Amino acid sequence: MVTGGAGFVGINVADRLLTEGKKVLIFDNLSRAGVENNLSWLKEKWGDQLQVTIADIRDRAAVTEAVNHASQIFHFAAQVAVTSSLIDPFYDFEVNAQGTLNLLEAIRNSEHQPPVIFSSTNKVYGDLDDIGIVMNGTRYYPENTFFRQHGISEKRSLDFHSPYGCTKGVADQYMLDYARTFGLKTVVFRMSCIYGPHQFGTEDQGWVAHFLIQALKNKPITLYGDGKQVRDILFVEDLVTAYLLAMKNIHKISGNAFNMGGGVQNTISLLELCDMIGEITGKKPEVRFDNWRPSDQKYYVSDFGKFNAITGWQPQVRTREGVQRLCNWLQENAMVPAKKRISKKQKVGSPA
Ligand SMILES: NC(=O)c1ccc[n+]([C@@H]2O[C@H](COP(=O)([O-])OP(=O)(O)OC[C@H]3O[C@@H](n4cnc5c(N)ncnc54)[C@H](O)[C@@H]3O)[C@@H](O)[C@H]2O)c1
Repeated sequence: MVTGGAGFVGINVADRLLTEGKKVLIFDNLSRAGVENNLSWLKEKWGDQLQVTIADIRDRAAVTEAVNHASQIFHFAAQVAVTSSLIDPFYDFEVNAQGTLNLLEAIRNSEHQPPVIFSSTNKVYGDLDDIGIVMNGTRYYPENTFFRQHGISEKRSLDFHSPYGCTKGVADQYMLDYARTFGLKTVVFRMSCIYGPHQFGTEDQGWVAHFLIQALKNKPITLYGDGKQVRDILFVEDLVTAYLLAMKNIHKISGNAFNMGGGVQNTISLLELCDMIGEITGKKPEVRFDNWRPSDQKYYVSDFGKFNAITGWQPQVRTREGVQRLCNWLQENAMVPAKKRISKKQKVGSPA
Protein backbone atom coordinates (compact mmCIF):
# COMPACT_ATOMS: atom_id res chain seq x y z
CA MET A 1 0.00 0.00 0.00
CA VAL A 2 1.40 3.35 -1.05
CA THR A 3 -0.49 6.31 0.40
CA GLY A 4 -0.03 9.42 -1.74
CA GLY A 5 1.08 6.93 -4.37
CA ALA A 6 0.05 9.09 -7.33
CA GLY A 7 2.44 11.83 -6.17
CA PHE A 8 6.06 12.31 -7.05
CA VAL A 9 7.81 10.07 -4.50
CA GLY A 10 4.90 7.62 -4.26
CA ILE A 11 4.73 6.89 -7.98
CA ASN A 12 8.46 6.20 -8.11
CA VAL A 13 8.22 3.81 -5.16
CA ALA A 14 5.16 2.11 -6.66
CA ASP A 15 6.86 1.69 -10.03
CA ARG A 16 9.91 0.03 -8.42
CA LEU A 17 7.74 -2.32 -6.34
CA LEU A 18 5.80 -3.31 -9.47
CA THR A 19 9.08 -3.87 -11.32
CA GLU A 20 10.04 -6.30 -8.56
CA GLY A 21 6.84 -8.25 -9.20
CA LYS A 22 4.87 -7.02 -6.18
CA LYS A 23 1.21 -6.07 -6.30
CA VAL A 24 0.66 -2.44 -5.38
CA LEU A 25 -2.35 -0.58 -4.00
CA ILE A 26 -2.17 3.18 -4.45
CA PHE A 27 -4.27 5.16 -1.98
CA ASP A 28 -4.56 8.80 -3.06
CA ASN A 29 -7.23 11.49 -3.27
CA LEU A 30 -5.54 13.08 -6.33
CA SER A 31 -5.58 16.50 -4.66
CA ARG A 32 -2.17 17.48 -6.02
CA ALA A 33 -2.50 19.07 -9.45
CA GLY A 34 -1.03 16.95 -12.22
CA VAL A 35 -0.70 13.64 -10.34
CA GLU A 36 -3.50 12.02 -12.36
CA ASN A 37 -0.93 11.98 -15.21
CA ASN A 38 1.38 9.88 -13.04
CA LEU A 39 -1.44 7.46 -12.32
CA SER A 40 -2.45 7.06 -15.98
CA TRP A 41 1.20 6.40 -16.87
CA LEU A 42 1.55 3.73 -14.17
CA LYS A 43 -1.78 2.07 -15.01
CA GLU A 44 -0.86 1.82 -18.65
CA LYS A 45 2.51 0.32 -17.75
CA TRP A 46 1.33 -2.26 -15.22
CA GLY A 47 -2.35 -3.03 -15.83
CA ASP A 48 -3.98 -5.25 -13.19
CA GLN A 49 -0.85 -5.61 -11.07
CA LEU A 50 -1.73 -2.10 -9.91
CA GLN A 51 -4.83 -1.38 -7.84
CA VAL A 52 -6.01 2.12 -7.09
CA THR A 53 -8.21 3.48 -4.32
CA ILE A 54 -9.18 7.09 -4.80
CA ALA A 55 -9.81 8.14 -1.22
CA ASP A 56 -8.74 10.53 1.48
CA ILE A 57 -6.34 9.71 4.31
CA ARG A 58 -8.79 11.59 6.58
CA ASP A 59 -11.43 8.94 5.82
CA ARG A 60 -10.91 6.36 8.58
CA ALA A 61 -13.12 3.69 7.07
CA ALA A 62 -11.36 3.86 3.72
CA VAL A 63 -7.95 3.77 5.40
CA THR A 64 -8.94 0.75 7.53
CA GLU A 65 -10.26 -1.12 4.50
CA ALA A 66 -7.03 -0.53 2.56
CA VAL A 67 -4.77 -1.44 5.49
CA ASN A 68 -6.56 -4.77 5.86
CA HIS A 69 -5.27 -5.75 2.41
CA ALA A 70 -1.71 -4.46 2.85
CA SER A 71 1.43 -6.42 3.72
CA GLN A 72 3.72 -3.36 3.72
CA ILE A 73 2.86 0.35 3.84
CA PHE A 74 4.70 3.39 2.50
CA HIS A 75 3.06 6.57 3.79
CA PHE A 76 3.45 9.66 1.57
CA ALA A 77 -0.07 11.20 1.49
CA ALA A 78 0.26 14.69 2.89
CA GLN A 79 -0.34 18.38 2.66
CA VAL A 80 3.20 19.02 1.44
CA ALA A 81 3.85 22.78 1.41
CA VAL A 82 4.96 25.13 4.20
CA THR A 83 3.25 28.00 2.34
CA SER A 84 -0.19 26.30 2.27
CA SER A 85 0.16 25.33 5.94
CA LEU A 86 0.45 29.02 6.81
CA ILE A 87 -2.80 29.75 4.97
CA ASP A 88 -4.85 26.84 6.32
CA PRO A 89 -3.27 25.22 9.41
CA PHE A 90 -6.46 23.22 10.19
CA TYR A 91 -6.39 21.46 6.84
CA ASP A 92 -2.66 20.86 7.21
CA PHE A 93 -3.28 19.33 10.67
CA GLU A 94 -6.19 17.14 9.54
CA VAL A 95 -4.24 15.60 6.66
CA ASN A 96 -0.75 15.35 8.15
CA ALA A 97 -1.36 14.70 11.83
CA GLN A 98 -4.87 13.22 12.02
CA GLY A 99 -4.40 11.37 8.72
CA THR A 100 -1.25 9.69 10.01
CA LEU A 101 -2.99 8.76 13.25
CA ASN A 102 -5.82 7.23 11.21
CA LEU A 103 -3.26 5.07 9.46
CA LEU A 104 -1.47 4.03 12.65
CA GLU A 105 -4.73 3.15 14.39
CA ALA A 106 -5.88 1.13 11.38
CA ILE A 107 -2.59 -0.79 11.53
CA ARG A 108 -2.78 -1.27 15.31
CA ASN A 109 -6.33 -2.63 15.03
CA SER A 110 -5.59 -4.93 12.11
CA GLU A 111 -4.86 -8.62 12.63
CA HIS A 112 -1.56 -8.64 10.77
CA GLN A 113 -0.16 -5.18 11.66
CA PRO A 114 1.87 -4.45 8.50
CA PRO A 115 5.10 -2.42 8.76
CA VAL A 116 5.02 1.24 7.72
CA ILE A 117 7.66 3.74 6.60
CA PHE A 118 6.81 7.42 6.91
CA SER A 119 8.18 10.41 5.01
CA SER A 120 9.00 13.15 7.52
CA THR A 121 11.03 16.27 6.82
CA ASN A 122 14.16 18.21 7.76
CA LYS A 123 11.79 20.97 8.95
CA VAL A 124 11.52 19.11 12.28
CA TYR A 125 15.00 20.44 13.14
CA GLY A 126 14.07 24.14 12.90
CA ASP A 127 16.20 26.91 11.43
CA LEU A 128 19.60 25.68 12.78
CA ASP A 129 20.77 29.27 13.21
CA ASP A 130 22.78 28.28 16.30
CA ILE A 131 25.31 26.32 14.22
CA GLY A 132 26.89 29.61 13.17
CA ILE A 133 25.99 30.16 9.56
CA VAL A 134 28.27 32.27 7.36
CA MET A 135 28.20 32.93 3.61
CA ASN A 136 30.32 33.42 0.54
CA GLY A 137 29.36 34.70 -2.93
CA THR A 138 26.84 31.96 -3.77
CA ARG A 139 25.98 30.02 -0.60
CA TYR A 140 25.55 29.75 3.17
CA TYR A 141 27.58 27.20 5.12
CA PRO A 142 28.24 26.38 8.80
CA GLU A 143 31.22 27.96 10.48
CA ASN A 144 31.57 24.81 12.57
CA THR A 145 33.86 22.34 10.76
CA PHE A 146 32.05 19.27 12.06
CA PHE A 147 28.67 20.33 10.65
CA ARG A 148 30.34 21.42 7.41
CA GLN A 149 31.93 18.00 6.97
CA HIS A 150 29.07 15.79 8.14
CA GLY A 151 25.78 17.66 7.93
CA ILE A 152 22.94 17.32 10.46
CA SER A 153 22.42 13.99 12.22
CA GLU A 154 19.44 12.54 14.08
CA LYS A 155 21.10 13.58 17.37
CA ARG A 156 20.02 17.13 16.65
CA SER A 157 17.18 18.18 18.96
CA LEU A 158 13.72 18.56 17.50
CA ASP A 159 12.48 22.12 16.99
CA PHE A 160 9.38 22.18 14.81
CA HIS A 161 9.09 25.29 12.65
CA SER A 162 5.97 26.32 10.66
CA PRO A 163 2.57 24.61 10.88
CA TYR A 164 3.81 22.11 8.26
CA GLY A 165 6.92 21.41 10.40
CA CYS A 166 4.64 20.91 13.42
CA THR A 167 2.23 18.49 11.76
CA LYS A 168 4.92 16.45 10.04
CA GLY A 169 6.80 16.46 13.35
CA VAL A 170 3.72 15.24 15.22
CA ALA A 171 3.26 12.44 12.70
CA ASP A 172 6.98 11.61 12.93
CA GLN A 173 6.75 11.29 16.72
CA TYR A 174 3.52 9.24 16.59
CA MET A 175 5.24 6.83 14.21
CA LEU A 176 8.15 6.33 16.60
CA ASP A 177 5.89 6.10 19.61
CA TYR A 178 3.64 3.46 18.05
CA ALA A 179 6.76 1.29 17.72
CA ARG A 180 7.71 2.00 21.35
CA THR A 181 4.27 1.76 22.96
CA PHE A 182 2.41 -0.73 20.77
CA GLY A 183 5.26 -2.63 19.14
CA LEU A 184 4.28 -1.69 15.59
CA LYS A 185 6.99 -1.88 12.94
CA THR A 186 7.56 1.74 11.95
CA VAL A 187 10.43 3.73 10.44
CA VAL A 188 10.73 7.47 9.81
CA PHE A 189 12.73 9.10 7.02
CA ARG A 190 13.44 12.79 7.70
CA MET A 191 13.91 13.87 4.15
CA SER A 192 15.75 16.79 2.66
CA CYS A 193 14.91 17.95 -0.89
CA ILE A 194 14.08 15.16 -3.30
CA TYR A 195 13.95 15.68 -7.06
CA GLY A 196 13.46 13.64 -10.22
CA PRO A 197 11.00 12.37 -12.84
CA HIS A 198 7.25 12.66 -12.16
CA GLN A 199 7.70 15.73 -9.98
CA PHE A 200 5.20 18.50 -10.65
CA GLY A 201 7.29 21.16 -8.94
CA THR A 202 5.70 24.48 -8.08
CA GLU A 203 6.82 27.60 -6.28
CA ASP A 204 5.41 26.06 -3.09
CA GLN A 205 7.06 22.64 -3.24
CA GLY A 206 9.52 20.81 -5.47
CA TRP A 207 11.88 23.70 -6.26
CA VAL A 208 14.42 21.85 -8.42
CA ALA A 209 11.70 20.75 -10.86
CA HIS A 210 9.98 24.14 -10.60
CA PHE A 211 13.18 26.03 -11.51
CA LEU A 212 13.75 23.74 -14.50
CA ILE A 213 10.16 24.07 -15.71
CA GLN A 214 10.34 27.87 -15.48
CA ALA A 215 13.67 27.96 -17.31
CA LEU A 216 12.47 25.63 -20.06
CA LYS A 217 9.39 27.78 -20.52
CA ASN A 218 11.58 30.89 -20.66
CA LYS A 219 9.85 32.26 -17.59
CA PRO A 220 11.59 34.04 -14.69
CA ILE A 221 12.48 32.24 -11.44
CA THR A 222 11.65 34.06 -8.19
CA LEU A 223 14.10 33.48 -5.35
CA TYR A 224 12.69 34.24 -1.90
CA GLY A 225 15.60 35.62 0.14
CA ASP A 226 19.05 36.03 -1.38
CA GLY A 227 19.19 32.62 -3.11
CA LYS A 228 22.17 31.47 -1.05
CA GLN A 229 20.10 28.90 0.86
CA VAL A 230 21.77 25.49 0.67
CA ARG A 231 20.19 22.04 0.55
CA ASP A 232 21.47 18.54 -0.08
CA ILE A 233 19.36 17.27 -2.94
CA LEU A 234 18.66 13.59 -3.51
CA PHE A 235 17.66 12.00 -6.81
CA VAL A 236 14.44 10.04 -6.36
CA GLU A 237 15.88 6.78 -7.72
CA ASP A 238 18.35 6.73 -4.79
CA LEU A 239 15.56 7.54 -2.34
CA VAL A 240 13.45 4.63 -3.61
CA THR A 241 16.38 2.28 -3.07
CA ALA A 242 16.62 3.56 0.52
CA TYR A 243 12.89 2.98 1.13
CA LEU A 244 13.09 -0.60 -0.09
CA LEU A 245 16.21 -1.26 1.97
CA ALA A 246 14.46 0.12 5.04
CA MET A 247 11.50 -2.19 4.46
CA LYS A 248 13.83 -5.16 3.97
CA ASN A 249 15.57 -4.37 7.27
CA ILE A 250 12.40 -3.42 9.15
CA HIS A 251 12.92 -5.91 11.99
CA LYS A 252 16.36 -4.46 12.67
CA ILE A 253 15.52 -0.76 12.39
CA SER A 254 11.91 -0.43 13.54
CA GLY A 255 11.33 2.51 15.88
CA ASN A 256 14.14 4.58 14.33
CA ALA A 257 14.25 7.87 12.47
CA PHE A 258 16.85 8.42 9.73
CA ASN A 259 17.98 11.61 8.03
CA MET A 260 17.77 11.12 4.32
CA GLY A 261 19.20 13.34 1.61
CA GLY A 262 22.02 13.76 -0.87
CA GLY A 263 24.48 14.51 1.94
CA VAL A 264 27.57 16.74 1.91
CA GLN A 265 28.55 15.54 -1.57
CA ASN A 266 25.32 16.74 -3.16
CA THR A 267 24.77 20.25 -1.85
CA ILE A 268 23.61 23.17 -3.93
CA SER A 269 22.29 26.68 -3.34
CA LEU A 270 19.38 28.18 -5.24
CA LEU A 271 21.74 30.54 -7.07
CA GLU A 272 24.05 27.66 -7.95
CA LEU A 273 21.12 25.64 -9.31
CA CYS A 274 20.16 28.57 -11.56
CA ASP A 275 23.74 28.62 -12.89
CA MET A 276 23.69 24.87 -13.44
CA ILE A 277 20.39 25.10 -15.32
CA GLY A 278 21.97 27.78 -17.50
CA GLU A 279 24.83 25.39 -18.30
CA ILE A 280 22.47 22.50 -19.08
CA THR A 281 19.96 24.41 -21.21
CA GLY A 282 22.41 26.83 -22.78
CA LYS A 283 20.50 29.85 -21.46
CA LYS A 284 20.86 31.40 -18.02
CA PRO A 285 17.38 31.70 -16.49
CA GLU A 286 16.04 35.11 -15.58
CA VAL A 287 16.10 35.45 -11.78
CA ARG A 288 14.03 37.80 -9.60
CA PHE A 289 14.18 38.29 -5.84
CA ASP A 290 11.48 38.64 -3.20
CA ASN A 291 11.28 38.65 0.62
CA TRP A 292 12.40 35.66 2.70
CA ARG A 293 9.64 33.13 3.40
CA PRO A 294 8.91 32.03 6.99
CA SER A 295 10.82 28.97 8.26
CA ASP A 296 13.21 28.87 5.31
CA GLN A 297 16.42 27.30 6.62
CA LYS A 298 19.56 29.05 5.35
CA TYR A 299 21.40 25.75 5.43
CA TYR A 300 20.28 22.18 5.71
CA VAL A 301 22.41 19.18 4.76
CA SER A 302 21.64 15.64 5.93
CA ASP A 303 24.09 13.37 7.67
CA PHE A 304 22.81 9.97 6.47
CA GLY A 305 25.58 8.07 8.30
CA LYS A 306 23.16 6.25 10.64
CA PHE A 307 21.28 4.65 7.73
CA ASN A 308 24.51 4.03 5.82
CA ALA A 309 26.05 2.19 8.79
CA ILE A 310 23.14 -0.28 8.88
CA THR A 311 22.40 -0.78 5.19
CA GLY A 312 25.46 0.48 3.29
CA TRP A 313 23.19 2.86 1.35
CA GLN A 314 24.58 6.00 -0.21
CA PRO A 315 23.44 8.15 -3.13
CA GLN A 316 24.64 7.01 -6.56
CA VAL A 317 23.40 9.92 -8.68
CA ARG A 318 25.40 13.13 -8.34
CA THR A 319 23.72 16.52 -8.56
CA ARG A 320 24.79 17.51 -12.09
CA GLU A 321 23.72 14.14 -13.53
CA GLY A 322 20.41 14.16 -11.66
CA VAL A 323 19.47 17.69 -12.75
CA GLN A 324 20.34 16.77 -16.35
CA ARG A 325 18.17 13.64 -16.13
CA LEU A 326 15.22 15.57 -14.71
CA CYS A 327 15.63 18.18 -17.46
CA ASN A 328 15.56 15.41 -20.09
CA TRP A 329 12.46 13.85 -18.51
CA LEU A 330 10.59 17.16 -18.42
CA GLN A 331 11.29 17.65 -22.11
CA GLU A 332 10.56 14.12 -23.20
CA ASN A 333 7.25 14.17 -21.34
CA ALA A 334 6.12 17.45 -22.81
CA MET A 335 6.13 19.31 -19.52
CA VAL A 336 7.32 22.26 -21.60
CA PRO A 337 6.05 23.39 -25.03
CA ALA A 338 7.81 21.70 -27.95
CA LYS A 339 9.19 24.91 -29.41
CA LYS A 340 11.03 25.62 -26.18
CA ARG A 341 12.72 22.23 -26.01
CA ILE A 342 16.48 22.29 -26.19
CA SER A 343 18.35 20.41 -28.88
CA LYS A 344 19.56 16.84 -28.40
CA LYS A 345 23.12 18.06 -28.66
CA GLN A 346 22.66 20.45 -25.75
CA LYS A 347 20.78 17.79 -23.81
CA VAL A 348 23.50 15.14 -23.83
CA GLY A 349 26.55 17.31 -24.33
CA SER A 350 28.64 19.31 -21.92
CA PRO A 351 27.56 22.80 -20.87
CA ALA A 352 26.56 24.90 -23.88
N1 LIG B 1 9.56 15.99 -2.21
C1 LIG B 1 10.33 16.40 -1.22
O1 LIG B 1 11.36 17.03 -1.45
C2 LIG B 1 9.96 16.06 0.22
C3 LIG B 1 10.81 16.46 1.25
C4 LIG B 1 10.48 16.15 2.57
C5 LIG B 1 9.32 15.43 2.84
N2 LIG B 1 8.50 15.07 1.82
C6 LIG B 1 7.30 14.29 2.13
O2 LIG B 1 7.26 13.19 1.25
C7 LIG B 1 5.91 12.87 0.92
C8 LIG B 1 5.73 12.82 -0.58
O3 LIG B 1 6.05 14.08 -1.15
P1 LIG B 1 5.92 14.36 -2.71
O4 LIG B 1 6.97 15.31 -3.08
O5 LIG B 1 5.81 13.06 -3.42
O6 LIG B 1 4.52 15.13 -2.75
P2 LIG B 1 3.31 15.01 -3.79
O7 LIG B 1 2.44 16.19 -3.53
O8 LIG B 1 3.81 14.81 -5.18
O9 LIG B 1 2.57 13.66 -3.31
C9 LIG B 1 1.66 13.63 -2.26
C10 LIG B 1 0.46 12.84 -2.73
O10 LIG B 1 -0.47 12.76 -1.64
C11 LIG B 1 -1.78 12.96 -2.15
N3 LIG B 1 -2.61 13.49 -1.07
C12 LIG B 1 -2.59 14.75 -0.54
N4 LIG B 1 -3.51 14.85 0.41
C13 LIG B 1 -4.13 13.65 0.51
C14 LIG B 1 -5.18 13.15 1.32
N5 LIG B 1 -5.80 13.94 2.21
N6 LIG B 1 -5.56 11.86 1.17
C15 LIG B 1 -4.95 11.06 0.24
N7 LIG B 1 -3.96 11.49 -0.56
C16 LIG B 1 -3.55 12.77 -0.43
C17 LIG B 1 -1.62 13.93 -3.32
O11 LIG B 1 -2.69 13.86 -4.25
C18 LIG B 1 -0.29 13.48 -3.91
O12 LIG B 1 -0.49 12.53 -4.93
C19 LIG B 1 5.05 13.92 1.62
O13 LIG B 1 4.61 13.35 2.83
C20 LIG B 1 6.01 15.04 1.89
O14 LIG B 1 5.64 15.80 3.04
C21 LIG B 1 8.79 15.37 0.51
